[in-house]
Amino acid sequence: MPVTVIVGSQWGDEGKGKITDLLSKDMDMVVRYQGGNNAGHTVVIGDKTFKLHLIPSGIFYPNVRCVIGNGVVVDPAVLIEEMEKLRVQGVDPSNLSISSRAHLIFPYHRLIDQAQEKKREAGRIGTTSRGIGPCYVDKINRRGIRVGDLYNLDTLKEKLLWNIQEKSFQLNNFYEFPVELNFDAILDEYLGYARFIKKHVIDDSGSLVKKAASEGKSVLLEGAQGTMLDVDHGTYPFVTSSNPVSGGACIGVGVGPTLINSVIGVVKAYLTRVGSGPFVTEINSEVGDFLREKGGEYGATTGRPRRCGWYDAVVMKYSNQLNGFTSLAITKLDVLDELPGIKICTAYKYGNQQIDHFPSDLKVLEQCEPVYEEMPGWKQDTTQVKTFDELPLNAKKYIQRLSQLSGAPVNLISIGAERGKIIKL
Ligand code: IMP
Repeated sequence: MPVTVIVGSQWGDEGKGKITDLLSKDMDMVVRYQGGNNAGHTVVIGDKTFKLHLIPSGIFYPNVRCVIGNGVVVDPAVLIEEMEKLRVQGVDPSNLSISSRAHLIFPYHRLIDQAQEKKREAGRIGTTSRGIGPCYVDKINRRGIRVGDLYNLDTLKEKLLWNIQEKSFQLNNFYEFPVELNFDAILDEYLGYARFIKKHVIDDSGSLVKKAASEGKSVLLEGAQGTMLDVDHGTYPFVTSSNPVSGGACIGVGVGPTLINSVIGVVKAYLTRVGSGPFVTEINSEVGDFLREKGGEYGATTGRPRRCGWYDAVVMKYSNQLNGFTSLAITKLDVLDELPGIKICTAYKYGNQQIDHFPSDLKVLEQCEPVYEEMPGWKQDTTQVKTFDELPLNAKKYIQRLSQLSGAPVNLISIGAERGKIIKL
């Protein structure tokens, strides 16, 4: 049975939570592989809406083992709150495991995130302020404190002391962000979290996945954010600090690429982006406002309004190159139902050249203008449709064109937030 990776193929918020929830019912294990509580995965079940930030979206199925892999950065306060909230809503989170190799977010990470953004002024990235970037910085700088360190008091104290001294200096002096970090209070707080999560901590996520796969079980590796926010391949520096691309799954879980059988790209039928950074197909007119309101395009984590734009096939072709999609899941098709015409960006105009690759240089990207082809809308409600054949002709043509331009087949089409609103091809 296969190991599948699910990836956001654009700038995040493609609807991965819903697709993960759908696929999870046939899975034995779901593993998050990167990011942290900067993610917000929304799952609608009946009249209840769940927003998950850290816990894999497979948690709603009691037989599915959910794992937070080593590549995730964990804010334990958020994790515990999320577990408790699920319990109150009738979902049992006891089937959750956390890799001892995952790094922990501390209060000083959140403070540095805020202080950096303040100091950057006009150049700010528009982060989620959750301390994600500073935590990954410590990981790469070999200063990070991992989940496993919570159970070795000497190591924990030694690392925490170093970090508190270093971060106090940075915050108070370089960032001019006056704070007092209390070693004893933070240590006590984290020892409390350590006791709470102890029974969930496992040595290593990779060995679990490998074992499950060798026993013929199905495993879903769940990405967060999106390909264009990838720290290596996205619109750097307007990116997150991890690798959401499918290759990131190997690192963030601890398995080799040959274990992976399929890669599903989740694609919004139009495009959105939160935070700063270039966005060639952004719509600054009432059509953009229409998409935002009809699509409920407000951040699941921060509530910020998302920037909206037309579907960008240049981005998707690049995304397919980076991820190697075996299939696509198109979401929010119904948001386009009322539009008389729908644009697809097929290339960029840069000066007097036409380019069809995604430029690495942001100065070039900022000057690119979209080259559009326009397709007629279908002006019909699609939310009750059950099969591809039942879709209005123009909607079918739109889907076929997206598939053709991205170079991957479409296997799923989502036409509403609820679980049942899905067309399987
Ligand atoms: P950070 O991940 O909080 O450091 O934020 C860096 C950039 O990634 C900002 O532009 C955020 O808005 C964006 N970002 C982070 N997580 C998500 C997400 O889950 N969906 C969409 N954008 C995100």
